[in-house]
Amino acid sequence: MKNFRRLFENNEAWANAVLAEDPGFFKRGERKQEPHFLWIGCADSRVPAEQVTGAVPGDIFVHRNIGNQVWETDINLLSVLHYALEVLKVKHLIVCGHTNCGAIKAAYGGGGFGVVDHWLSDIRNVMRWNRAELAAIPNVRDRLDRLTELNVLRQVGVLARTPTVRDEWAKGRRPLLHGLVYDVKNGHLRSIVDGIDSAEKAEALLPRT
Ligand code: CO
Repeated sequence: MKNFRRLFENNEAWANAVLAEDPGFFKRGERKQEPHFLWIGCADSRVPAEQVTGAVPGDIFVHRNIGNQVWETDINLLSVLHYALEVLKVKHLIVCGHTNCGAIKAAYGGGGFGVVDHWLSDIRNVMRWNRAELAAIPNVRDRLDRLTELNVLRQVGVLARTPTVRDEWAKGRRPLLHGLVYDVKNGHLRSIVDGIDSAEKAEALLPRT
């Protein structure tokens, strides 16, 4: 899709179609949202959280950035996380990476993307921490796929270390952390790690070096 006007035409058609199928849909959603999922995904246009999961508006609270990263210093992400848990009471926190990710390729390839290189420094850390495992994979595409998985594991691990998640667990609430990878060549989601509900389980995900 290239034409900006098409966005409005499509929106009009979509809103009318939703209304035709469920006349109360927008009226119900107008007052409040009650999503059960927080999705932390890559900004890549090929991985829209709602479309690939068959979700409808109101189902998923979404935060996306380049490389689906969780930085302990990112006030944007930390605010989204805090609001999702403390106010919306989401039950599932999902970090979703994807195959053929530009961030993974750029980190692996040594950069050249200006300010984005700074943002990718944690993925380069993941590469360093797992150098031996990655070097043992002969095929570059497989190596990048593994780096994608390792990045997801790392980001789930960091998510579990945030004060907001720790507080939830300390209070006896059990938000579950999940790590997924979306395959852009066939549209399938795959679970990398599932049901992390304690600091101990999460620490096992983080590299020891
Ligand atoms: Co990506």
